Amino acid sequence: MNKRDFRLVDDLNKDELSSLFELTLQMKTQPERFTTCLAGKTMAMINEKQSLRTKVTFEAGIQQMGGFSVYLTNHDINLGKREPVKDIARNLSRWVDIIVARVYQQSTITEMADYADIPVINALSDADHPCQAVADLFTLWDFVRQHKSLNHFNLTYVGDGNNVCNSLIRIAALTGVNLTVSTPAGYEPDSALMERSRDNGASVTYERDPQKAVASADAIYTDVWASMGQEKEAEQRKQDFANYQVNDALLGFAPSHAVIMHCLPAHRGEEITDEVLESPRSIVFEQAENRLHGQKALMYFLLTGKTKI
Ligand code: CP
Ligand code: NVA
Repeated sequence: MNKRDFRLVDDLNKDELSSLFELTLQMKTQPERFTTCLAGKTMAMINEKQSLRTKVTFEAGIQQMGGFSVYLTNHDINLGKREPVKDIARNLSRWVDIIVARVYQQSTITEMADYADIPVINALSDADHPCQAVADLFTLWDFVRQHKSLNHFNLTYVGDGNNVCNSLIRIAALTGVNLTVSTPAGYEPDSALMERSRDNGASVTYERDPQKAVASADAIYTDVWASMGQEKEAEQRKQDFANYQVNDALLGFAPSHAVIMHCLPAHRGEEITDEVLESPRSIVFEQAENRLHGQKALMYFLLTGKTKI
């Protein structure tokens, strides 16, 4: 089996993602069937940035399938400075079975994947957050599957055109979801990325006005205005994003059935109000839970080449 990586959502095709959703559902509803499926496998997790959800869900996930994890902070390995990324990749390939890395630059993931003989998973870079997008779209798929498919489901992203937004744009092409993105001027996602996703079959629309953007939304998604690494811009961004808060006033322009999504951590009072985050419409903790099941399915697929046990 050729090794497979998950550097970007695009590393999966439509059929694989669809099978992965079915497997994720099994992982979620029948976890007892998967307790030994990765027995003896070891994951090394590298984190250049902070994390709660990603760290716990990957570490707990591999252990729930009979494997082990080794957690490496940047304090331990000083990625790219103590030794080159390509050497770290080739060392880890001799000792463990899969690498999961949260990094600043997407090029670090690319270099790691190019030099590792084992699968490499992108656990967030400045450019993308593909594991988040898989869990998010699984959450919506699971939510609608009794009545319909994700085709024609309207997902609106309000906020910064950042890594989380980029991965939603990419995954739109694999799921059939209609994605509308609304950002302040100067914070739009890369137009070439949107164009490429449309070329791949996605329905992705840009709408500057957040009130118009949510008008036919089935789900409204937001994320922090200043991502990890952008802390110095936080004050400026608070001003620039002031009209893009997901609050009761904005929800007044949305259908009453629209659910609220956030990858977390949330900055209450900035991109989302406490009331909206805590409201019954919020599915943020379902998203967070599904990180676990989605990543278990992803690790199982990358390590075995199978989407069925
Ligand atoms: N959503 C997410 O990736 O959370 P963490 O940064 O806590 O891992
Ligand atoms: N856009 C955020 C996502 C955190 C999960 C960040 O990169 O900090």
